[in-house]
Amino acid sequence: MGSFSPLSAFADLAPPPHDEQIALTQVHDTDPNEQKVNLSTEEYKDRNGEPWVLPVVRQTELELIMDTSLTHSKSSVRSPANFIHAAQDMIFGPLSSELKSKIASIQTVSGTGACHMGTRLLCDTIKPKTIWMPDLTYTSHDAIWDWMGTVQKRAYPYSLPDRSAIDFERMLDSLNTKAQRNDIILLDSCAHGSSGLDLEPHQWIELGEVCRRIEIFPFFDSTYQGFASGDPDTDVWAIRCFVQLGLEVCVAQSFSRNFGLSGERVGCLHVVLAFPDQREAVLNKLYYYQRGLTSTPPTYGANLVSTILTSESLYAAWRADLKSMTDRIKKLRLGLYAELIKRRRGMFAYTSLSKQHIELLRKDYHIYIMSTGRISLPGCMLGGPKWSKSYC
Ligand SMILES: Cc1ncc(COP(=O)(O)O)c(C=O)c1O
Repeated sequence: MGSFSPLSAFADLAPPPHDEQIALTQVHDTDPNEQKVNLSTEEYKDRNGEPWVLPVVRQTELELIMDTSLTHSKSSVRSPANFIHAAQDMIFGPLSSELKSKIASIQTVSGTGACHMGTRLLCDTIKPKTIWMPDLTYTSHDAIWDWMGTVQKRAYPYSLPDRSAIDFERMLDSLNTKAQRNDIILLDSCAHGSSGLDLEPHQWIELGEVCRRIEIFPFFDSTYQGFASGDPDTDVWAIRCFVQLGLEVCVAQSFSRNFGLSGERVGCLHVVLAFPDQREAVLNKLYYYQRGLTSTPPTYGANLVSTILTSESLYAAWRADLKSMTDRIKKLRLGLYAELIKRRRGMFAYTSLSKQHIELLRKDYHIYIMSTGRISLPGCMLGGPKWSKSYC
């Protein structure tokens, strides 16, 4: 018999970085106080603080359940064509055949899966030295890029230190002086998830020119399409602008928020190429990654999305549902510290509250806010603080 080693293979496992949002939600969930409010949530909630099933999604579910041709078989590794076309149209608008021939798209496990796939593709192809992320960004981006051990993560200045406005000058200066050819830049296409501040069209154009000159690869995160202006077409202006400038880009598209389908994990990665002849090779590589990740993508949510996007009446109903979410968020924003945050867009507001204030709100009022001061507006509910009741 060999000698017994008391050591586990996992004995030296280093703990992962602290995830404030998960930790805060855990404390909130175990807080027995009935007035508690979780403003760190990324999901849209209704006026009672409950997840909202979009009426159009419910209607479509009821229709699909009666459709006996639908089964629970797995889909093909080559994502369903109707879903891919609908997802492409939503981001790029009606496609010319020329543009269509240059876009490689694959269904992914939500926006996070799309970021992951795109990251892997770029690491295998352009081999970036650095990924440039906004100085405040979605937590998972850290985990995604940490996994690609050889790529250095660096922050570009996005907003002024008090988060009151975009600091475009410092952003460009940082890229112009430090970024190198084949670096990647992560960009929220609208309703920047961590600050609610978006670039103006002329700033997007200028940034696109910088990417072209230095040959930085733009990677768009499109999680809040529709939440900035209420109009999904207006909200992808930056992506369409970069494509028109002739840049190659990746787009990680999420249907978690704008279809209220977070739990179904519906997403799509689009890779816009300079020339059509690389499309097949890129697609094959993406299918290969898919094979090793989830084999095939999940079907239920993708079916709902493609059914809604390809029916004229359901599409109109979806736009109305999206508008009702954004209208309510705008109302909440106006009601909450009007002067402080009304210029921002999207689901979140940046409050500029100090760490001490945030701690005080948590301890004395059971209101849970991220230490950055970011709050989720739809987290404000009827049962919450007095001010929120009149706006929910
Ligand atoms: C900015 C941003 N990117 C990506 C995601 C990932 O979304 P999902 O994986 O649910 O599609 C989120 C989720 O909240 C986000 O806020």
